[in-house]
Amino acid sequence: MRDEVLLTGRILDFIADPFVVPFEEACLIEEHGGVLIAEGRILARGSAEALRAAHPGAREVPYGKGLILPGLVDAHVHFPQTAMIASWGKRLIDWLNSYTFPEEMRFADPAYAAEIASRYLDLTAAHGTTSMVSFCTIHPASVEAFFGEAQKRGQRVVAGKTCMDRNAPEGLRDTAQSAYDDSKALLEAWHGVDRISYAITPRFSPTSTPGQLEAMGALWAEHPDCLMQTHLSEQTDEIAWVKSLFPGARDYLDTYEAYGLLGGNGLYGHAIHMEPREIDRLAEVGAAVVHCPTSNTFIGSGLFDMVGMKGAGIRVGLATDTGGGSDFSMLRTMGAAYEIGQLKGTPLHPAQLLWLATAGSAGAIGMGDLIGTLAPGSEADIVVLDLESTPAIAQRAVRAEDLWEAVFPTLMMGDDRAVQAVWINGRPVKG
Ligand code: GUN
Ligand code: ZN
Repeated sequence: MRDEVLLTGRILDFIADPFVVPFEEACLIEEHGGVLIAEGRILARGSAEALRAAHPGAREVPYGKGLILPGLVDAHVHFPQTAMIASWGKRLIDWLNSYTFPEEMRFADPAYAAEIASRYLDLTAAHGTTSMVSFCTIHPASVEAFFGEAQKRGQRVVAGKTCMDRNAPEGLRDTAQSAYDDSKALLEAWHGVDRISYAITPRFSPTSTPGQLEAMGALWAEHPDCLMQTHLSEQTDEIAWVKSLFPGARDYLDTYEAYGLLGGNGLYGHAIHMEPREIDRLAEVGAAVVHCPTSNTFIGSGLFDMVGMKGAGIRVGLATDTGGGSDFSMLRTMGAAYEIGQLKGTPLHPAQLLWLATAGSAGAIGMGDLIGTLAPGSEADIVVLDLESTPAIAQRAVRAEDLWEAVFPTLMMGDDRAVQAVWINGRPVKG
């Protein structure tokens, strides 16, 4: 008989988008619930009592008042920036030149790349993040290191070799041809192996020549099932720079569109200072954007227009943007998304925040059937939150009159101590 495990506690899952339907209809809440897993898959979720009766042979792992959720999905990170997260005092272009590029240079050493990949995956698992979409560095070995570590852990990850052939220092530039050749070789070696997917990854249009963008577009046309990830309209200075580098472009998005880098499997990080045409085009092609709230305040980029993007029908994911973002924690990221919503005059409901960090991010990367959900048949990546993890949080949560009031203090004040347990691919990795 296969080894069945029944995790019991309070369950929260999403059956619809709480930005589209009232949150009561979007959520599945079971106060005394259970999630039945076997062989890395979720078999069922529902009332603990009913699942115990139907599966008497299952080994129960009781989490008491713990809140059982799908594993958190971080839709935009740079794992190579792990060791320089929270670096002081710069805005985007200076931050890249002062902190990011020197650190990324160190990934020429495959041993360093492996050390940071392992450290990054340990840290994020402790914070409840079970899947992520990462930029690597220009070095193919950085991609090998990241995929190798993720494969060992049985994790579903997406990543790609960052491509840059201009406006980056010597030692951190490839060429149009080598970017195409290296990306293609990595894609062919890794895409679809175990739980690994390859993303074609031009960093952003200022660091790619038109020739390199064209080569990336050609590779994507050959592998349209791959995601293509990049950055879009993060800071106003950056947009002015893009205009000067691409004088013929209608707007920033056009620098991608013109070279075949706009499509339904496109994932555009930040997307803050947007022209109406850009929003229309993203919606028309069914592309996704990624909200990186701690990064957008930390680097001083601006306030993402969640209501505008969702209203236009654009898929939106949520992300830490490690290490432009200032924390590995998706809890802290949800807290920051709430605060940005407040500054825009549209506070997000806890159901919307949790949806963004699970089903929303999974949907943005085209994996909504596999991760970010507790639905039967999906992959067994699960996080359990302790909603009273510190005295400060507990003294507020104890007054809560419903689940939302109980969970919100943890979204605002929680950290890895609130992550009671984590399961990846049906195996416990924390708690
Ligand atoms: N734009 C281009 N590269 C980067 C990066 O590494 N981080 C952020 N936040 N924005 C970028
Ligand atoms: Zn980024």
